[in-house]
Amino acid sequence: MTNPLPLVLGAAGGALLAREHKTRVAMERFAGAALETLLNAIEANDPDTGMHVRRVAAYAMIIAEAAGLDEHRQHAVERVALFHDIGKIHEALFDIVHEPNKLTAAERRAIATHPARGAQVLAPLKAFYPELPAGVLAHHERWDGKGYPRGLRGRRIPLEARIVTIADTFDAVAHTRRYRRGTGVEKAFEVIAEGRATQFDPELVDVMLLPPVKEQIVREFDTRITPHGQRGGRRARRHESIPDVTFRWRSQSLGSSRLRAAHRVD
Ligand SMILES: [Fe+2]
Repeated sequence: MTNPLPLVLGAAGGALLAREHKTRVAMERFAGAALETLLNAIEANDPDTGMHVRRVAAYAMIIAEAAGLDEHRQHAVERVALFHDIGKIHEALFDIVHEPNKLTAAERRAIATHPARGAQVLAPLKAFYPELPAGVLAHHERWDGKGYPRGLRGRRIPLEARIVTIADTFDAVAHTRRYRRGTGVEKAFEVIAEGRATQFDPELVDVMLLPPVKEQIVREFDTRITPHGQRGGRRARRHESIPDVTFRWRSQSLGSSRLRAAHRVD
């Protein structure tokens, strides 16, 4: 349906609305570009984290859409997913994050500060994206209240964080096992199912484990691993560094509704 307002306001009113629309689109593009610049900075500093957050964003978006979230909320989920680990690039944590050996108790305590450090880094964006620092702060909370940093329980945990924590865990399991043919995603789905109503929001787990949603996640996973299951190497890295998650302002590809769960989660 066409907008009747320009007819009421006349030609001048129509021009005004058109100008406002143009300004809004330009501002959205600017905001998207600024966020993407920040993402590029994360990736330049730490390519592994950069690739991890892009994968997490892809899985989180599939869950968000399947859970019936509207476009606006899906954007919020995408942002929290893309910046959830920004606290890990803090100079105080960099060596620990890249420590190949098992972490000591003190190192684990230090790593547990990354949600708060991330929220702090993102604090200036709170006025524009209120969900972003709050979601990042809460992405290690658990449904049963045993998470950190605040021990929030159930729906007190922001929805964005409840989705991202599932996608994050899925990636951690699936990706580290990706070269053991066939075991990566299966094991990851098992871990998510085991965490239902303890670690994770049970409704969101149910959404993720719906066969069409699982299928879509597996397809996404398959596009992000090396074609022949090689371990690491330059070829693998080149394949993975294709920037395949993009902000909405320059890609409408995720906008179409492909999956809908029987119920909305909020
Ligand atoms: Fe994290």
